[in-house]
Amino acid sequence: MKKFLVLLLALVMVLSAVGCSSSSDAPAADTEKTVEKTEEMPKIGVTIYKYDDNFMSFVRRAITNSAEGKAEVLMNDSQNTQAVQNDQVDMMIAKGVKSLAINLVDPQAASSIIAKAKEADLPVVFFNKEPTLEDLNSYDRAWYVGTASKEAGIIQGEMIAEMWKANPEWDTNGDGVLSYVLLKGEPGHPDAEARTKFAVSSIVDAGIKVEELELQTGMWDSVKAKELMDAWLAKHGDNIEFVIANNDGMALGALQSLKANGYFAGDKFMPLVGVDAIPDVLEQIKEGTIVGTVLNDAANQGKATLELANNVARGNDPLEGTEWKLVDKAVRVPYVGVTIDNIEFAEKAYQ
Ligand code: GAL
Repeated sequence: MKKFLVLLLALVMVLSAVGCSSSSDAPAADTEKTVEKTEEMPKIGVTIYKYDDNFMSFVRRAITNSAEGKAEVLMNDSQNTQAVQNDQVDMMIAKGVKSLAINLVDPQAASSIIAKAKEADLPVVFFNKEPTLEDLNSYDRAWYVGTASKEAGIIQGEMIAEMWKANPEWDTNGDGVLSYVLLKGEPGHPDAEARTKFAVSSIVDAGIKVEELELQTGMWDSVKAKELMDAWLAKHGDNIEFVIANNDGMALGALQSLKANGYFAGDKFMPLVGVDAIPDVLEQIKEGTIVGTVLNDAANQGKATLELANNVARGNDPLEGTEWKLVDKAVRVPYVGVTIDNIEFAEKAYQ
């Protein structure tokens, strides 16, 4: 009987061991699921050149929103320092990201990021600060998402020309020459260079004589732009007839200065234009203090960046399942001119 009990116990143990092993298949299946899930949600390493940039904060938001349910984004503030960004890229590679989405601090630094990506055998999507085509062509797994920089300049210049012709009173000294000051973005940044050049050339192409009173960089920044505008108003006073800003952040800085100097109260007016169509500027267009801007489509640039980075992270074609087109390894989201007449359109783009 004792022998029988021992046998029975042994049998129970064997059976329960079989049971265990079959139930231990379940976690194995779970593990498989986790592996699949990781593939479904690849890690993507993203850098923003600095969080303290009005327009880029909207691009960042669009990337994060577009990643929902698709990819795990490791988001980094490069604090406007290329060395910080380089370290962040190393760190993200060590953390096992499957692709990189890089908003360069220094547009000339693309080659060093490409060298890191190549070494780690990772694809890289640059966005907002355009690398040279030579850099992009140096690596078959490098792409760019942004805009055609000169388009913003042309749209802004044509808008200025049209408004200037429609408002002869803006030529305050009546000399038939549009005397402007221009707030330039970061020197060497393709957007800043092209916007500056083409805004002015498009005004001239529209048959308007121009005089450049001042052209300096405000580095895309409101505070710097306010300081410059303060100095220019002190120097040129009423001789300034137009303020052209390479971006809305600087337009807002100039606006502050103009207001502090008595503009937009009573009859004192100054036409002022920017680029980006950020919500704060759209409010000012409604108030009548800024006459126009150019929509730089943050939502679609962020979306395209994430979609390409997600596709290449999975080993897919960069455009798979997307509506974008690649020309010379770049997706370019169009700019749109914005005045009070089509403001709702721009408001929707930033929702
Ligand atoms: C431009 C934008 C600027 C600034 C810059 C940063 O496209 O118009 O406001 O954000 O990018 O690279």
